[in-house]
Amino acid sequence: EKESSFHNSPDTDYAQAEARQAIQAAFQTVRQNLGKTYLPIINGEPVNTLHFDHSVNPCNPSEIIGQVGQATVEQAEQAIQAAQAAFPGWKNTPATERATILRRAADLMEQKRPELVAWMVLEVGKVVEEADPEVSEAIDFCRYYADEMERLDRGYTRNFPGETNHYFYQPRGLAVVISPWNFPFAIPTGMTVAALVAGNCTILKPAAPSAVIAAKLAEILQEAGMPPGVFQYLPGPGSQVGSYLINHPAVHLIAFTGSQSVGCRIIEEAAKLRPGQKHIKRVIAEMGGKNAIIIDESADLDQAVAGVVHSAFGYSGQKCSACSRVIVLEPVYATFVERLIEATKSINVGVAEEPGSGMGPVVSESAQKTIQAYIAKGQEECSLALEMPSPRPGYFIGPVIFTDVAPTATIAQEEIFGPVLAVIKAENFQHALEIANGTNYALTGGLYSRTPSHIAQAQAKFEVGNLYINRGITGAIVDRQPFGGFKLSGIGSKAGGQDYLLQFLEPRVVTENV
Ligand code: SER
Repeated sequence: EKESSFHNSPDTDYAQAEARQAIQAAFQTVRQNLGKTYLPIINGEPVNTLHFDHSVNPCNPSEIIGQVGQATVEQAEQAIQAAQAAFPGWKNTPATERATILRRAADLMEQKRPELVAWMVLEVGKVVEEADPEVSEAIDFCRYYADEMERLDRGYTRNFPGETNHYFYQPRGLAVVISPWNFPFAIPTGMTVAALVAGNCTILKPAAPSAVIAAKLAEILQEAGMPPGVFQYLPGPGSQVGSYLINHPAVHLIAFTGSQSVGCRIIEEAAKLRPGQKHIKRVIAEMGGKNAIIIDESADLDQAVAGVVHSAFGYSGQKCSACSRVIVLEPVYATFVERLIEATKSINVGVAEEPGSGMGPVVSESAQKTIQAYIAKGQEECSLALEMPSPRPGYFIGPVIFTDVAPTATIAQEEIFGPVLAVIKAENFQHALEIANGTNYALTGGLYSRTPSHIAQAQAKFEVGNLYINRGITGAIVDRQPFGGFKLSGIGSKAGGQDYLLQFLEPRVVTENV
């Protein structure tokens, strides 16, 4: 059934000794390059800054990964002007040429894969097995959107006697990408290359905790041949630089992935027409989840326990797709909880870089504090079934499980973005679906079941953008599982899917009487 020639890039097989040696060598190389300075790139050139932000290793915050120059509002204005100047040339660059640059970027990512993995592990505390698929995903985004742009660029014609009609796409203009730290390489790559290949000049403002990895992406895009002004890297304080970009009348579209509160604020600000602005801004926003997995009485519990543990605690629960609620039907509740706790105890929480670690730290001290406050809140409202110890001195939080959680409890409603799992008991399958749908979010969801009628009901009624049956609920793969949600999980269509690039383009029709 597959029409395109697109193939996903395979993850590294660390069972192979060569792959293990390559990653060890990459850690050595990267360690020799820690603490360097990364400057904003405007019009193809690094620009000096007065202020620097230290990006640190969350496993060991005294280790500085890089010193990142913080752009000012004046520099943001320069970036906008450079992007405006570059736009006519980029718009008129044939789509295949733009696509070729993306394919070159993908090849460079493939060559640099071990170093990219090592940077991610050290800068955001992701374990190697979780960081490696991110490089695959970034490569996939480049190649997939390159193919997609070539497909869309064909447009179509409808000819009638005396009349021709041509449907085609043009770029929107200036794009601002505001990227998160939790998928520090794949997500900024996806949003940025989508904007670029569609012909938009693009400014990337990365999240502070992962600004060095974003600088690696910037280096790759430059090396792949993005012309000056077409792509610009602009680390800086969100409250100043981010706001300035979002409010600027010359900006046409904003692609954002992050929290619901920031996403909603961007949508609100972007809706205001500014003096001199001649267009409505388009916002593409992905804003998190409160994702549930339902376990019914027919589930294979071995499979279910493994899937829940990985979905809830992989990358310390800091994925928008992570499982933070598990809804278990009464007949299997006690057995499932017992096995879940045992399996969770076997997670090796440790320094992300060490081969045996299954789970590293959370990203920052402020994240750690927020999560700890939720754990305290959970202890007031629910019953604490497991709290695993956290190694020091990094920003560690061991897995935490609350049981017999009321569906309306704070920890069952708010996105925690940490390794905290709420287990909720359901009387029957209908009840489980009601609980699952009873939040403000609709991103991912899962069901473990061997009952065909339950599987059919979940398909019809489980209100999520990505529903996974009898597997974990994280790790969507480009083209196979286009990814994104609705309700307060986001607007806009799915990353890594056929509708995604349409958001970065303006469709036009030219009719001619002949
Ligand atoms: N795409 C990621 C996942 O599926 C989340 O952003 O886990």
